[in-house]
Amino acid sequence: MVLILFLGYPLHINMVKICCIGAGYVGGPTMAVIALKCPKIEVVVVDIFEPRIIAWNSDQLPIYEPGLDDVVKQCRGKNLFFSKDVEKHVAEADIVFVSVNTPTKTQGLGAGKAADLTYWESAARMIADVSKSDKIVVEKSTVPVKTAEAIEKILTHNSKGINFQILSNPEFLAEGTAIQDLFKPDRVLIGGRETPEGQKAIQALKDVYAHWVPAERIICTNLWSAELSKLAANAFLAQRISSVNAMSALCEATGADVSQVSHAIGKDTRIGPKFLNASVGFGGSCFQKDILNLVYICECNGLTEVANYWKQVVRVNEYQKTRFVNRVVSSMFNTVSGKKIAILGFAFKKDTGDTRETPAIGVCQGLLGDKAILSIYDPQVPQEQIQRDLSMHKSELDKPPHLRPVSPVAIEQVTCVRDAYEATKGAHGICVLTEWDEFKTLDYQKIYNDMQKPAFVFDGRNVMDVDKLRQIGFIVYSIGKPLDAWLKDMPAVA
Ligand code: UDX
Ligand code: ADP
Repeated sequence: MVLILFLGYPLHINMVKICCIGAGYVGGPTMAVIALKCPKIEVVVVDIFEPRIIAWNSDQLPIYEPGLDDVVKQCRGKNLFFSKDVEKHVAEADIVFVSVNTPTKTQGLGAGKAADLTYWESAARMIADVSKSDKIVVEKSTVPVKTAEAIEKILTHNSKGINFQILSNPEFLAEGTAIQDLFKPDRVLIGGRETPEGQKAIQALKDVYAHWVPAERIICTNLWSAELSKLAANAFLAQRISSVNAMSALCEATGADVSQVSHAIGKDTRIGPKFLNASVGFGGSCFQKDILNLVYICECNGLTEVANYWKQVVRVNEYQKTRFVNRVVSSMFNTVSGKKIAILGFAFKKDTGDTRETPAIGVCQGLLGDKAILSIYDPQVPQEQIQRDLSMHKSELDKPPHLRPVSPVAIEQVTCVRDAYEATKGAHGICVLTEWDEFKTLDYQKIYNDMQKPAFVFDGRNVMDVDKLRQIGFIVYSIGKPLDAWLKDMPAVA
């Protein structure tokens, strides 16, 4: 018989109940995979935003993620449930994962850098309020170092004698590949207290992952190392992209080709080939937020030089977006006013409908600032979401969906269309902002024939067959690649 220890008491594994607060991009897929791999564990994902729960219970899941439908279909209604009844399921659970939003603070102390822990704190208070039995509380959302300690204080000061053990179990999945990342993680990281109770809680969570993750891939650390490792991993990854993007500017200035440079340096096993694709900038809900958070922690600890070092990663990312907009505008006779520009791709990367911090927002706003007319096509992002992203203030977008204002009036200069041919028809230029596979196989001769001349392609993801496009007649700008004669003497810096 399989036993796990739960806060010191042996429990039959089929008695374990997991509840996850927050049915978002992390909570939903992670819990679906736990349910699939641990058929004897009951997993309930709860959220206060009812439309999201309704969607999780329907055939149209609230997030697009390859392979997710299949996993959810296999276990929903058996040992995987989605519910808005937050308190009931938290009260019944042995292990509570917390996967709520942690946006960057927009006001007050640490504004623009520190993580806003409002949602986390209210979740912790609710857990303390409704609990009638011992629980392991697991930090799943990325949080600042020492959050666990703060949460522990909230829980223990309101515990009514209940024993809470807090663990940090940061999630490293990347959107678009979430299911395969969860099936075969490079590592699972569990941080906990170095007390006997803390170690028992770590073991209980380890036993859950041990259903499918080899023991050598489950790393256990203290709480603070786990929390900091998540920030550090994202900062290192983002830094790689800013490094290659910084190189891309130098490549354009010197006639080198950034793809060749990436290939050459990536062959060094110490550097490795992954995450070296120059782009219009990194996006996603994590990189910028986590670096700003890291910067804030450094500043709070008096480490100004270290803070400035990481700040620069975000600055280069902003620079890359501005540089791209400047290339577009300067190539097109220094103005895009009244010109139709097709935007191919709006999501922050392919295979997701997520637009949080997508570089497309900055690029589109830059072009709109120069009075361009935008025709936007993305295979997964709905029109309302694009309009909302372009018209709403950033601080509103970071909020959980139920707290966001209703979408303001749509921007007139922006239309969202159903395919790339409609987007490019009659356009002066095309900006490729997401690397969707389907953009590689479009009929570019047909597209060229239907565009204004000269016809431009600005490839922000280096996914186009540049030689072929040039043969057709396009003037092409590709990030970090030798420039067309047309672009050579034009100003490109921000
Ligand atoms: C990231 C981390 O990879 C993941 O471990 C963490 O859990 C959450 O944050 P995610 O943001 O979902 O995942 O996607 P990721 O694949 O890391 O891409 C982030 C951004 O970097 C995207 O905009 C992507 O297009 C860009 N990118 C990535 C590049 O511009 N070049 C690259 O070489 C790789
Ligand atoms: P992530 O990408 O980290 O998963 P999301 O924004 O996709 O973040 O998901 C976070 C979810 O957490 C949202 O659906 C939001 O409604 C939910 N949420 C926030 N606060 C609470 C709370 N106190 N109780 C339940 N759900 C919450």
